[in-house]
Amino acid sequence: MKRPVAYIAGTGKGIPAHVMTNHDFAAIGIETSHEWIVERSGIHERHIAKAETGCSLGSEAARQAMQRAGVDAGEIDVIVVSTATPDRLLPATAVDIQAEIGASRAAAFDISAACSGWLYALTVAEGMMAAGTGETFLVIAAEKMSAITDWTDRSTCVLFGDGAGAVVLKRSEGAHANRGILSAYMRSDGTLADLLYRPNGGSTTPFSAEVLADRSHYVKMSGREVFKHAVRSMADACDRALDGAKMSGSDIDLLIPHQANVRIIEATAKHASIPMEKVYVNVDRYGNTSSASIPIALEEVVESGRVRDGSRILMVAFGAGFTWASMVVRL
Ligand code: ACO
Repeated sequence: MKRPVAYIAGTGKGIPAHVMTNHDFAAIGIETSHEWIVERSGIHERHIAKAETGCSLGSEAARQAMQRAGVDAGEIDVIVVSTATPDRLLPATAVDIQAEIGASRAAAFDISAACSGWLYALTVAEGMMAAGTGETFLVIAAEKMSAITDWTDRSTCVLFGDGAGAVVLKRSEGAHANRGILSAYMRSDGTLADLLYRPNGGSTTPFSAEVLADRSHYVKMSGREVFKHAVRSMADACDRALDGAKMSGSDIDLLIPHQANVRIIEATAKHASIPMEKVYVNVDRYGNTSSASIPIALEEVVESGRVRDGSRILMVAFGAGFTWASMVVRL
């Protein structure tokens, strides 16, 4: 496949109104401190969905991205939604968004690859475009991590937040022929699935009174192990995407890493020889929004003018599975 095939024509985000600061954990009986959370993760606050759903947040992000790309909902051929927290287990959140935005002629489906899911979704959409399946795609990540968080477990509940991000993907042609995805890399290692997972509540052990009682439908994480693998895999993924684009760290205008933990971000940037001035960090304001973290960050850097058409961006993610992925994009 000769790249670029697909470029980002517009970005958008949907963020819940309610802000929960580190100081708010005391009110729900969690023994922690602002200092501990900031020192270990870099997180100061996160947005928590109250009335909002994955569909409403994803639709808001999609409408913004379509408006900025100058595209109507009726022009969308395919909607791909990355989510680890679908509104319902059946059908996909993508079809709820399809109905909500009125994308009357779009195919719609979800992708589940945890925090790496949005880069997986972009790669799938690019491949579909290369195969001629459509011309205009919406690639969305919509996450309501607060719904799968155990709010009695201080080792995880301080880390996550809710939100959505979206892009419109169009064909790299005409005036946009040089813009788009220059390289993409994806990997997984399911032998390590139990280090970050929801043990029960799926079809093997359906939701029941027992599952509810032992809280095994919530996210369980071996934080230290996840940390080690995240650093190693994200560093390797940066190398692979840079190699694929025939670039080095110094060719990159901005690194957008998955926003889970500022220490993982710093280690990844160091490995890729990218100074922190060229790294976007917003984990302090949103916490870990799983696969939504990169498209939310992308919307912010585009809208603030920190990057412009032609900027070279390296994106890299790691998440449950484990899965990891990276991509170089010329905006
Ligand atoms: N407040 C205060 N103390 C706490 C808290 C808390 N919220 N949580 C845990 N502690 C305590 C522990 O009980 C432990 O106490 P002990 O030494 O008396 O037993 C101590 O703090 C140290 O705990 P660790 O878990 O070893 O702390 P660590 O330095 O590893 O930091 C953290 C924990 C922040 C979770 C870190 O391991 C991490 O960031 N891991 C990666 C997590 C991650 O990135 N996950 C997402 C990636 S994939 C995805 O996005 C889904």
